[in-house]
Amino acid sequence: MLGHKGMLGSDLFSKLSIGHEVVGMDKEEIDIVAADNCKKAIKETEPDIIINAAAYTNVDDCETAKEECFAVNAEAVKNIAENCRDKDIRIIHFSTDYVFNGKAKQPYKEDDKCNPINVYGQSKLAGEKYLQSLSKNYLLIRTSWLYGVKGKNFVQTILEKAKAKSFIDDAMARTNAKADGPSMLSVVDDQVGSPTYTKDLAAAVGLLIEKNAQGIFNVTNRGTCSWYQFAVRILKESGFDKIKVIPIKSSKLKRPAKRPAYSVLDMHKFIQVTGKAMQPWQLALQDYLKNIKI
Ligand SMILES: NC(=O)c1ccc[n+]([C@@H]2O[C@H](COP(=O)([O-])OP(=O)(O)OC[C@H]3O[C@@H](n4cnc5c(N)ncnc54)[C@H](OP(=O)(O)O)[C@@H]3O)[C@@H](O)[C@H]2O)c1
Repeated sequence: MLGHKGMLGSDLFSKLSIGHEVVGMDKEEIDIVAADNCKKAIKETEPDIIINAAAYTNVDDCETAKEECFAVNAEAVKNIAENCRDKDIRIIHFSTDYVFNGKAKQPYKEDDKCNPINVYGQSKLAGEKYLQSLSKNYLLIRTSWLYGVKGKNFVQTILEKAKAKSFIDDAMARTNAKADGPSMLSVVDDQVGSPTYTKDLAAAVGLLIEKNAQGIFNVTNRGTCSWYQFAVRILKESGFDKIKVIPIKSSKLKRPAKRPAYSVLDMHKFIQVTGKAMQPWQLALQDYLKNIKI
């Protein structure tokens, strides 16, 4: 498994190590950009399946570090696929809802037209195309809005901000200082998607492996929300109800990369093939919060 120390990779590694022999390799062991490294790793480990959870995932940084982003998210996928082709090694690879432009009004199906609006999405789409053209034995999983115990993510960011604000409010109260108003957080309300817990995604990958699923699959937790709605729920579930969340437009944040306004992925194919539905994002969030220290 490549990228087994990342946010998704670490949950995948734990899940799939039950009942499978999994060899984990992250950046310290192998830089997947160098073609020779992939060749050597395959020779040494002789895998039946290569799971690639490694990626360049900082969406804003991709806008300026375009070359590095394409090297990891596209060229490395080409290397892996070329090295697996003759040996018929199965490849499991991950992609993103950001391959879509977000103009749809209903969930994106696996074969809907891709049209990314940022460099990260373009690099991930290029990786998808290499995989599809070079491998006859692949599972390509598109997912969205990931959070997990390992790795920086939106839930963690909201909790850190909430903790800092609560600390200031407590300090104000102790010193009789006058606050300007209730603690507030501004969060965008014009991007809608499906938050997905990496532990649930890892279990879903296990199911798809059991079914020997081939081709593209969407996998996210069930249901949709905006980042604003997600933030409100995070604060409610973790006891920071006093913090007020203000919905704002994405344009107010002036982030380097554009994000799709609507990037919900259709889950019918996953349900049809596995016979299982993913749990709603609200329940997944509760599970995650039980597994972290708030
Ligand atoms: N995060 C999301 O919200 C999201 C949403 C949709 C899809 N996805 C996709 O899901 C997959 C997993 O994402 P994630 O958020 O779990 O990623 P992550 O936490 O950023 O982990 C990626 C891992 O890949 C490693 N890596 C980066 N460059 C490498 C290289 N050249 N060689 C070897 N390893 C390298 C990283 O190491 P370092 O940390 O040392 O750089 C890290 O351990 C990716 O394919 C991503 O595109 C993510």
